[in-house]
Amino acid sequence: MMNQRPPLILGNWKMNTLPEEGRLLARQLVPTVMDGLHRPVEWGLAVPMTHLALLATETKGKALLGAQDCSVHPHGAYTGEVSAAMLAASGCDFALVGHSERRQYHGETSLQAGQKILRLQEQGLMAVYCVGESLEQRQSGNYASVIQNQLQEGLMLEGLSLGVSELVLAYEPVWAIGTGLTASPEQANEVHALIRHWLLQNRGSNAAEQVRILYGGSVNASNAGDLLSGEHVDGALVGGASLQIRAFADIVLSVR
Ligand code: PGA
Repeated sequence: MMNQRPPLILGNWKMNTLPEEGRLLARQLVPTVMDGLHRPVEWGLAVPMTHLALLATETKGKALLGAQDCSVHPHGAYTGEVSAAMLAASGCDFALVGHSERRQYHGETSLQAGQKILRLQEQGLMAVYCVGESLEQRQSGNYASVIQNQLQEGLMLEGLSLGVSELVLAYEPVWAIGTGLTASPEQANEVHALIRHWLLQNRGSNAAEQVRILYGGSVNASNAGDLLSGEHVDGALVGGASLQIRAFADIVLSVR
């Protein structure tokens, strides 16, 4: 059967660059990627909230624009929060939810991530749900059940859609994020296969065929080709290297 999952490369700028610097970066990055592409590859950038409106003009029709979080609430008295509707109105196409830095420093749970997925989908935005185990969980050998629990809790809400443009999963082993350590292509593919199997068993064959699973954690221009070659690896979520024009363009261009 034809693969229904077009490859996807997303950058995550985290809390880096001022808005004007971000605009300049995007202004150089977008043509660098577009000039090198010999076939259409879906790619995009998750940027700070303050950059969205500025970057929407730079990325429109060329790259997906995303936020790094959104509120679990649709609107109301939630000081400091940004709703999915606000993201949609700022030109967003997607948002990350459940990133390990939000889990670690802001106490985000998988249940909250699930509510955020629903809020985003209500606004027609794609949700990128991040899962992954800590070093301790990897070393103790129970990473499979950690990831299965994150999937179970994050994807349990009724009304959640599992279509190709509605939900993307990102496997990001916490021990590989920003550390320079990467999962080996075999380790990544093993967990991706496990996630796909979970989708098949719990959400049916359409979800298993359509939901893309990205790998994230110290992806760079030299390791991207190998990591992306795994049968179940549909793309990458790139942190540090997405702030470097040549490196990120090369990662997008390494999609075969
Ligand atoms: P990294 O970050 O590529 O800098 O490891 C990945 C991420 O946190 O999404």
